[in-house]
Amino acid sequence: MTTKDQLLLYLKENQGNWVSGELISNNLSVSRAAIWKHIRNLKEEGYVIESASKKGYLLSESSDPITADEIRQGLCTKVFGKKNIIFLNETDSTNTRAKELAAQGAPEGTLVIAEKQTEGRGRRGRSWFSPPGGGIYFSLILRPVISPGETPKITLMTAVVLAETLISLMKLKLRIKWPNDILVNGKKLAGILTEISTEMDAVNYIIVGLGLNVNTQFEKFPQDIKGNATSILIENGKQFPRVKLIQHYLKLYEIYYDMFKNNDFEPIMKRWRELADIIGKQIRVDVIGKTHIGKVVDVDNDGVLILKDDQGRLQRIFSGDVTLARQITL
Ligand code: BTN
Repeated sequence: MTTKDQLLLYLKENQGNWVSGELISNNLSVSRAAIWKHIRNLKEEGYVIESASKKGYLLSESSDPITADEIRQGLCTKVFGKKNIIFLNETDSTNTRAKELAAQGAPEGTLVIAEKQTEGRGRRGRSWFSPPGGGIYFSLILRPVISPGETPKITLMTAVVLAETLISLMKLKLRIKWPNDILVNGKKLAGILTEISTEMDAVNYIIVGLGLNVNTQFEKFPQDIKGNATSILIENGKQFPRVKLIQHYLKLYEIYYDMFKNNDFEPIMKRWRELADIIGKQIRVDVIGKTHIGKVVDVDNDGVLILKDDQGRLQRIFSGDVTLARQITL
């Protein structure tokens, strides 16, 4: 273990309490100047460490940095995130970075994660609000041996994995909104952006991007999304450690992905239907330039929404924005 790792461990063991520089320097057998240098580096990595001349150093309880090392430590996956975690303090979009890496041959399970995105992208050409400190923004590279037509299953599966991750870690009454948003109390907590590269009739790689509002404060959301967005902090009234969420998600992702590769998709879809609770509901779907109103008959295994209109005609809808009937004002 390096001196820096030892120092970090020591600070973590005493998180929330002051530890004197002299004590650290004696325990680790390094100079006070060396300690100070490592503290500065740790702060640059995002650890919140206070220092005071008579007290020493204190790792704040609110310190919640995402680093490749933090994610790797205690990660119980076989492949995902094991070797390739690319952490960027700031980038335009982790999906864009992941695409570049995948095109250069990055292996399956490579994770590109950023503290901040300057051009975070959402579905249908929208942007994704990605400030530092509160959110999780990452993209996973997958290389399944499937035809392009099967890709929507990956998106449906991702929504289930994320929902199950959140359900198992905290009390949240969440719902999947077709096709792949996670809503809590009707507001958007997370979104998924799946991008695909194909060659001939096969998938070359898939990028699964995830944006999750974890410790974002209500005041920090821009005015135009304040009414529609939420975070774990807002819903639960307390912060949640982001690394724990990422590790849990990756572990579950691997399990579900193995099921998918073993053609065991039906249980995943069943769970999606339960979590979405949309079948039989009267809805409106806004597709570019068109609006459909009707009752949901099913969402099939390809993620296609099947809607019956008031004249009994069935419509197959591939993408759009859904509003539930009780929220429709005509
Ligand atoms: C949506 O609901 O519109 C999807 C949002 C997806 C946002 C994530 S954040 C990480 C990854 N990088 C991006 O640029 N977008 C996705």
